Amino acid sequence: MKFIAAALTLAAVASAQIQLSDPTEGTVWKVGVAQYVRWTGNCAAMGAAGKAVTVEVVNGPAGNVKFIANIGTIDCTSTTNTSTSLTVPPQTNNGPFVSGTYALRVNADPIQYTTNFIINNPDAPAASAGPSATTPSTTEPTTKPSSANTLMAGSALAMAALAAVQLVL
Ligand SMILES: *[C@@H]1O[C@H](CO)[C@@H](O)[C@H](O)[C@H]1NC(C)=O
Repeated sequence: MKFIAAALTLAAVASAQIQLSDPTEGTVWKVGVAQYVRWTGNCAAMGAAGKAVTVEVVNGPAGNVKFIANIGTIDCTSTTNTSTSLTVPPQTNNGPFVSGTYALRVNADPIQYTTNFIINNPDAPAASAGPSATTPSTTEPTTKPSSANTLMAGSALAMAALAAVQLVL
């Protein structure tokens, strides 16, 4: 709740600097495959923090989205380079990435969301896709530690600060 309130406050005082143009509705991504995130405009006004803006997969109703996975960062400070390829991990902190409808949250200032689109994981079909067999799992890739929890706890401003610190380190 605190998080949402902070996001709304920022949205009220800052006009959107970037607009996400890809993925769009109808887009289908597959886990483990690099896919392009594209935007228009730039976030140069964010300063150094704009060079490492985190991108997360989320789902749920607008205003009450649920964090699913951190998929990396974009540098949206450039006026010429407005795309970055990112990969959704086959594994999240809560197990295999489940096929379904998701959106991306881009933690720019203000925070931006894509429209809903599909992300598929052939190894973890959506629950409604039929009788789910207990697939004998191959060796599970170890996901690298993510800063997701820190991000969830912090406000948008804290995130910007975090990104700035990460750049310095
Ligand atoms: C654009 O930036 C991303 C990183 O933010 C980089 O991976 C990509 O190679 C760049 N593309 C061009 C055409 O410079």
